[in-house]
This record gives sequence, structure tokens and C-alpha cells, in this order.
Amino acid sequence: MAAIMSTARPLPRINRQFKLAARPVGLPKESDFTLVDAATPSLAEGQALVKTVYLSVDPYMRGRITGIRTYADPVNIGDVMQGGAVGQVGESKSPALAPGDFVLGHWGWQEYAAVDGKSVRKLDPKLAPVSTALGVLGMPGMTSYFGFLDICKPQPGETVLVSGAGGAVGSLVGQIAKIKGSRVVGIAGTGEKIDWMVKELSFDSAFNYKTTPDYGEKLKELCPNGIDCYFDNVGGSTTDAVFPRMNTFGRISVCGQISQYNLKQPEPGPRLLPYVLVKQLKVEGFIVTRFQSRFGEGIAQMAQWIKEGKLKYREQVVEGFENTPKAFIAMLEGENTGKMLVKV
Ligand SMILES: NC(=O)c1ccc[n+]([C@@H]2O[C@H](COP(=O)([O-])OP(=O)(O)OC[C@H]3O[C@@H](n4cnc5c(N)ncnc54)[C@H](OP(=O)(O)O)[C@@H]3O)[C@@H](O)[C@H]2O)c1
Repeated sequence: MAAIMSTARPLPRINRQFKLAARPVGLPKESDFTLVDAATPSLAEGQALVKTVYLSVDPYMRGRITGIRTYADPVNIGDVMQGGAVGQVGESKSPALAPGDFVLGHWGWQEYAAVDGKSVRKLDPKLAPVSTALGVLGMPGMTSYFGFLDICKPQPGETVLVSGAGGAVGSLVGQIAKIKGSRVVGIAGTGEKIDWMVKELSFDSAFNYKTTPDYGEKLKELCPNGIDCYFDNVGGSTTDAVFPRMNTFGRISVCGQISQYNLKQPEPGPRLLPYVLVKQLKVEGFIVTRFQSRFGEGIAQMAQWIKEGKLKYREQVVEGFENTPKAFIAMLEGENTGKMLVKV
């Protein structure tokens, strides 16, 4: 029989939600989302009411609101925006969840949700701040760990290049590469990110793609022995400049193509397959859920590296549920250093 517990506080009646109002054309606008007051959901047996504490804003959300099915269903107009969240259990009709528990789930941009015990993962706030379940010890962290190590298989002394290196995934990839004994070069779009990567995260060098006129020349200078592994978060002209600098038997992990997500028309690109042929490159895309069954291993290793001081992470926290679309757009525009989160 399900345990029925309740909190001292009465149930809130209003549940603020952000719904998709329009399919964005180019960079999303705040008016593409509407803030609505819905009723707080009632609980069925086996469910608990969670109050959102942190919301994640991630680049993949841009793909979900285009209306085209990629590897997941799109968000429809009028739907609550999808997304990962951390919340705290209030009332519970689930034997698995007690009031006060922190959980990670996927209930999207809303302040309250009724969740099944099985659809969420319980978090231990004594092990790590609960926000890390959306970053370094969550989906972005697992993306960097498995997407880099499993696909690039870096060897000590090799040169690793990371684009989007000042963000949630890229900043971790660069540090994992250092832990594995690589020489690491990062690419990002602000001077602050470049300083952070080189001064605090021990990247060997880095450059700002927004202020560098010739990426090919810069890569020649910063990667004099060529590039063995490229972890690609951005695509576009940055990646076009990387292929000619790849070493024979180099590996490219195609994680993201954020430079393309807001384009109104697809960009024509150069023909890169001749480099894949003559340099005998391995180029592999991945979706992190491929590694879901091994997340336990990845989280344990990342947590250990944090404890040992080998892995650092940064969270940029925007305060207030009402600022969620702003935070999402700011992340797409590169205003975040490390993982962008909303504190509700
Ligand atoms: N394959 C998977 O399963 C998987 C899972 C998670 C994430 N991803 C991908 O990994 C990438 C990074 O995700 P994240 O969560 O770590 O985001 P993030 O790097 O924390 O934030 C996005 C960053 O992208 C950069 N950016 C925006 N427009 C750009 C452009 N036109 N050219 C180059 N860089 C641009 C911005 O930094 P700058 O200041 O450097 O421009 C921005 O801060 C994304 O492409 C995402 O789609 C893939």
C-alpha cells in the first residue's frame, strides 16, 4: 500500500508554466513563450508533488521547438516547454518519495509537477549540490565523459581540440582530456571564457573565434603537431577549418552544431570528405542517451575527479522562474560561462 504523507504547508493553487507560443524563426524571442497560471496538479496514487528548484536551459531545446522530429518528438505550440529540472518533494503518495527529498526529472518549465516515483532520480544533497545533477553530474557531464572518451579514445601526448569550450560540455571535455594526458586547445566566444579555460582549467591554449580572423592560421600556430582528437560542439566555419589540420587516424566526436541551430537557411559548406579519406579519420556523431546504462559509472568518476580537485565546474545561475526564456536565449547567445541554470 502506498504511504500517504503530507507537508505542513497547504498546497499552492497556482502553477506557473511556460508554454511554447510560436515556433522561433532564427534566434528565439521571449515572445515565443507565454507564461500561464495553471492549476497545481492533483496527485494520483504513486505520485508526488515536486516544487521546482532548478531548471536547465540547454541547446537541444532549440531543436525541439522547430517542429521537426529529430531524435525526439518536438514540443507543440501550447505545450509546456520540455526540459530537465531538479525539485523538492512536497506532498507524496509514492512510497519511493518522502517530503523533503530532492529529485531530478524531466517535467519542463513549470514550478510544480506531479511525478511518478519511477520517473525521477533521487538526489543526495550531502554528496554534491543538487544543481550539479543538471550539469557536471548530469546530462552535460555524461555527454562530455562518454562522448569524448568513448569516441575519441585519447592517447597521452595527443593534441585535443574542443570547440564550444567555455560552456557546460566543452569545459569538462577539455579537463578530462588534460586528466588523460593530452595537450588541449579550446575555442570559445568571449575573453572571459578564454581566461577561465587557460588560467583555471589548465587548457594549454585557447582562442576567441569571434576576434580571430583566420581560424586555419590560428590552428596551425596553436596546434603545431596537428590535431589528433576534435570534440565538436559548434560546427560551421570553425569545424571547416579543423579538418585540414587533423592528423592521420584522427578522431572527431560530433557532439553539437550550435552555430547552425538558429540559421534561417542551411549554410552551404565545403566538401570535407576528402580529408576523411586521405587522413583516414573516424568521424562519429552521438546522442548521449546512447550511454544511459553507463551513467552510474560516469557520475562516479566525475564526482571522484571533483573530490580530487582535478575537475572544476562553473554554474551561471539566473534567478527567478519568470526569467527562464531570457536565460535560454542568453545561453544561445553565449552569455554563459559553464552551465546555465535557472533558480526558481
Ligand atoms: N550529442 C549530445 O547528446 C549532446 C548533449 C548535450 C549537448 N550537446 C551539444 O553540445 C553543445 C554544447 O552544449 P552545452 O549544453 O555545453 O551548451 P553551452 O556550451 O554551455 O552553451 C552554448 C554555447 O554555445 C556557444 N555558441 C552559441 N552560438 C554559437 C556559434 N554560432 N558558434 C559557436 N559557438 C556558439 C556559446 O558560447 P560562445 O561564447 O563560445 O559562443 C554558448 O555559450 C551544443 O551544441 C549542444 O547541442 C549534445
